[in-house]
Amino acid sequence: MATDTNTSLRHGILSDELAEERTQLIEMLTKAYWMEIETAMSYIANSINPEGVRAQEIIESLEEDIQEELGHARQFGERIKELYGVVPGSLEFQAEQSYLQPPDDQIDIVHVIRGVIEAETGAIEHYNRIIEVTDGVDPVTQDMVTAILHDEEGHRRLFEGFLREYKSEGLA
Ligand SMILES: [Fe+2]
Ligand SMILES: [Fe+2]
Repeated sequence: MATDTNTSLRHGILSDELAEERTQLIEMLTKAYWMEIETAMSYIANSINPEGVRAQEIIESLEEDIQEELGHARQFGERIKELYGVVPGSLEFQAEQSYLQPPDDQIDIVHVIRGVIEAETGAIEHYNRIIEVTDGVDPVTQDMVTAILHDEEGHRRLFEGFLREYKSEGLA
C-alpha cells in the first residue's frame, strides 16, 4: 500500500521500502491464521467424539486449547491488517489436517493424541520460520509469534506426556 510522501515511514516493516518483505510476511501470517482455524475446528470435533473414562483428560485439555487457538487466529488476523493486508474469507480455506480426522473407533484416544502432536509440531515449525524471517525486519510480529510459539510448545509437551503414559502402559 503506497502512502502519502509526507507521512510515509522511512523505517520499519510499514515503510514503502519493505513492501516486498511485508507481502511475504502477510502470506506467512495468513497460513498461520488458517492453521489456527483448522486446529480449532479439529479440536472441537475431537473434544466431543472420544468415548470412555480415559477420554476425559484429553477432552478437557482440548477444550482449553480451542480457546487459545481461536485467540491465536485473532492475533494473526489483527497483525495481517496492521501490515495492510486483508484477513481472508472462508472460501479461501483449504483443509490440510488429514491426521486429525475422527478415528474409526471413538475410544481410540491414541489417534487423537498423535494427531494433536502433529498439529502442534506443524505450528511450531511454521512459527519458527516466521521468527527467522522477521528477525531484524519486524520485531513486533516476531514478539507476537514468539509468545504464540510458547503456547504451542506447551500444548505439544502436554500431549507428549499423555502419549508417554499410554506407551508405558502398552497402549500406544
Ligand atoms: Fe495456536
Ligand atoms: Fe496449539
